[in-house]
Amino acid sequence: MKITEDIKYVGVNDHKIDLFEGQYDVPNGMAYNSYVILDEKIAVMDTVDAAFGEEWFSNLEEVLNGRTPDYLIVQHMEPDHSANVLNFANKYPEAKIVASQRAFVMMKNFFLTDFQDRQVVVKEGDTLSLGRHNLAFVEAPMVHWPEVIVTYDSTDKVLFSADGFGKFGALDVEEDWACEARRYYIGIVGKFGAQVQKLLQKASGLDIEIICPLHGPVLTENLGYYINLYDIWSSYKVETEGVVIAYTSVYGNTKKAALLLEEKLKEKGCPKVAVNDLARCDMAEAVEDAFRYGKIVLATTTYNGDIFPFMREFINELTERGFKNKTVAFMENGSWAPVAKKFMMKMFENSKGLEFAENSVTITSAVKEDNIRQIELLAEELA
Ligand code: FEO
Repeated sequence: MKITEDIKYVGVNDHKIDLFEGQYDVPNGMAYNSYVILDEKIAVMDTVDAAFGEEWFSNLEEVLNGRTPDYLIVQHMEPDHSANVLNFANKYPEAKIVASQRAFVMMKNFFLTDFQDRQVVVKEGDTLSLGRHNLAFVEAPMVHWPEVIVTYDSTDKVLFSADGFGKFGALDVEEDWACEARRYYIGIVGKFGAQVQKLLQKASGLDIEIICPLHGPVLTENLGYYINLYDIWSSYKVETEGVVIAYTSVYGNTKKAALLLEEKLKEKGCPKVAVNDLARCDMAEAVEDAFRYGKIVLATTTYNGDIFPFMREFINELTERGFKNKTVAFMENGSWAPVAKKFMMKMFENSKGLEFAENSVTITSAVKEDNIRQIELLAEELA
């Protein structure tokens, strides 16, 4: 695939993967992107996952057309991109390996060598000329590992953005960008909003026409749309007005209350209500929704004097990603003694910028008249 006259795509699609990074469901697979810049000197941008070395080398050879690469630029050391660095170094012994100092430390840990005799250590502001193409390196620590650099080709105005602007899904499947890019971003990079903001700030000083990420499609048009979404996500702003109801239910009573609240919110004109059963939905989807919408209702049973395990897991997923700038409301249920609200609130004690709804719902076993009244009041407050 041609990106520009001199830049070619040599990545691969993975439809064999069960869970990306050991936890994310990827129904449409995954793409591990890699690029080649053909100039007087040739640079290869990153490698691919271990399972796809053969296919990647074959793509590479086709594009190289008998030439040999001069540089392998390693922007990110996570194995979905770096697994073939050693294989590349062995296959092309003349090629230099370009990466940050931290990436070379990781290479030593992964491959037992840091390519001492052929390493080119780069840091913020360093440049590399390939002939016609000039590459500038930009440090992007924690987007999404500490060693990450991104690379700007000022000749073709291309930003090689590492994991930034990536998404779940292989490139041979048509799907909406934002949906799977959001789930990917919130899940994988969500905790590092401040670092993404820094990178966006640096990128705003560059004249970018094309973004080449390590996952998902190459972005060539309407870049403002993608950059704006990244700005919203990394600054933890509300992307869509609406309410998420995340619930767990053992015998259906808490579910009944959650669905009644959904109905009341809709009646009152709430623009969007998303409902997730945390025991059954994709947890990453529920987490994505929580960050996307402005308000969230957490509904769960009291369980072993604490809260139901899926809700505990969900709140942990939120707080560890720096969940903030949202309104949070609670619905609790308990057949012995309902204390779930107290425990849920405690889990947010170190979270910043959250508002807690005045109204809440306390159910003892089944939904009764007084609960319906509480749900009405909560719906009114949130809608
Ligand atoms: Fe796609 Fe952080 O690796």
